[in-house]
Amino acid sequence: MLIRRASPDDLPLIRALEQQAETAAHWASREYDALFSPDAPRRVALVAADESSAPHLHGFVLARCGVGEWEIENVVVAKEQRQRGLGAALVGALLGLAREAAVTSVLLEVRQSNIAARKLYEKLGFSEIGRRPGYYREPPEDALILKISISVP
Ligand SMILES: CC(C)(COP(=O)(O)OP(=O)(O)OC[C@H]1O[C@@H](n2cnc3c(N)ncnc32)[C@H](O)[C@@H]1OP(=O)(O)O)[C@@H](O)C(=O)NCCC(=O)NCCS
Repeated sequence: MLIRRASPDDLPLIRALEQQAETAAHWASREYDALFSPDAPRRVALVAADESSAPHLHGFVLARCGVGEWEIENVVVAKEQRQRGLGAALVGALLGLAREAAVTSVLLEVRQSNIAARKLYEKLGFSEIGRRPGYYREPPEDALILKISISVP
């Protein structure tokens, strides 16, 4: 399995993974289609790909790149591949790129009830810096704001 940058050809498989994950952030197809357009906000998208046979994705992570600060917008691992370290590998690879880009912090929002995601981020060193009451819909729920500070080598 290889973690690499996503390409436009990966978009159908990225969308399929996202749609199978109830707790993932859900985007409209036009938002995915715009990911690689020249005037889109700068983002990093990484995929965990199995390229030994037919192209197959086991997970992805997507982040928006601001000046000095990145925001993780989504991370999904295929159900059959969970709890084997792949989520940590994907987010860890993203943090490595952030460090190389001299980014000082990476932020994200997560549903309070999303224990799997919270454990993943906690393991990687994120800590809670705030809460947005009632931020999520269907069902309504608070968002926790998590952050990791990155030390530049
Ligand atoms: C969140 C998600 C990406 C985690 O991926 P993963 O590949 O299973 O995570 P990892 O195997 O790297 O696990 C990282 C840590 O989280 C813990 N963890 C993962 N899933 C867990 C679960 N269901 N319950 C408790 N802890 C869990 C692992 O045990 C591990 O900690 P450890 O090393 O101390 O054991 C995956 O569950 C997922 O795709 N969920 C649906 C989409 C989603 O909710 N995304 C987050 C949006 S903010």
